[in-house]
Amino acid sequence: MTKPIILTGDRPTGKLHIGHYVGSLKNRVLLQNEGKHDLFVFLADQQALTDHAKDPQTIVESIGNVALDYLAAGLDPEKSTIFIQSQIPELAELTMYYMNLVSLGRLERNPTVKTEIAQKGFGESIPTGFFVYPIAQAADITAFKANLVPVGTDQKPMIEQTREIVRSFNHTYNCEVLVEPEGMYPDNEAAGRLPGLDGNAKMSKSLNNGIYLADDADTVKKKVMSMYTDPNHIRIEDPGKIEGNMVFHYLDVFGSEEDKAEIAAMKEHYQRGGLGDVKTKRYLLDIMERELAPIRERRLEFAKDMGEVYRMLEVGSEKARQAAAQTLSEVKAAMGIQYF
Ligand code: TRP
Repeated sequence: MTKPIILTGDRPTGKLHIGHYVGSLKNRVLLQNEGKHDLFVFLADQQALTDHAKDPQTIVESIGNVALDYLAAGLDPEKSTIFIQSQIPELAELTMYYMNLVSLGRLERNPTVKTEIAQKGFGESIPTGFFVYPIAQAADITAFKANLVPVGTDQKPMIEQTREIVRSFNHTYNCEVLVEPEGMYPDNEAAGRLPGLDGNAKMSKSLNNGIYLADDADTVKKKVMSMYTDPNHIRIEDPGKIEGNMVFHYLDVFGSEEDKAEIAAMKEHYQRGGLGDVKTKRYLLDIMERELAPIRERRLEFAKDMGEVYRMLEVGSEKARQAAAQTLSEVKAAMGIQYF
């Protein structure tokens, strides 16, 4: 019996931070280890280039870093297919055929694209490749006949657009070649969108408010000790606030079932007054390090042999390419584009 297929990817625009980890990477590793699905995980370098065309170096360097983050977090090339988008030319070919099924107006209405266009300040000069990336993303998903796509809620419009393309293709060419995927969204709200250390809604490189899987123990300690808490909690005996206090937000995300009672007691104590920030931060650091220290060690270990990391990506890309080529040939057959 064939297993349901899960596919997901990241734009390699820098190292992965703990927001990526708790929001998605951790769950992928769990899914992989359950063994009930076939997992495809990929580095979406082509998509990253749609807004980094003049700065390919950042993307190229990030490939190695994100691959290390994957391996360190527990993705295992023996169990999952890990690959690089640009090494699968079939994806670009599928994109060409799908583009004819999507109107410009439909792309313009994609809410994620709209938001990103505003954020990135393209003005009147939106790169065409960027504008059509939702179609390329549909190619990524359908090439592997993915049933499930674990992504953040910001990606909902991409899944919706992919589903439309699938229906349109199968209907237009009177076939059942493409599979309609479902999005899989984080069930833990607190983890789904981990805010930055400074309380900003987004953890990002440009805001310099993140903790990276590659950070060493000292750096993590410094970052945790500088986290945003309650600016009005000045003396230890003052009552403190939990809402918007990043230490407690992170405790809710990183604490295990067994930590829950202790965390609840600390919250109570903090609000009553008499519990200092240094204490809460030390406690958080211990809890986070339980999870981050083994990841960091594995990362250092894998980083000793980058040749091996790239070989793993090469093998994964070859395997992925075969799957994509199979779908492409079915797509062309459905359209009747088979001349010889
Ligand atoms: N758009 C996704 C992001 O920005 C990355 C991505 C590209 C992706 N292709 C995909 C995710 C296919 C899931 C499936 O995070």
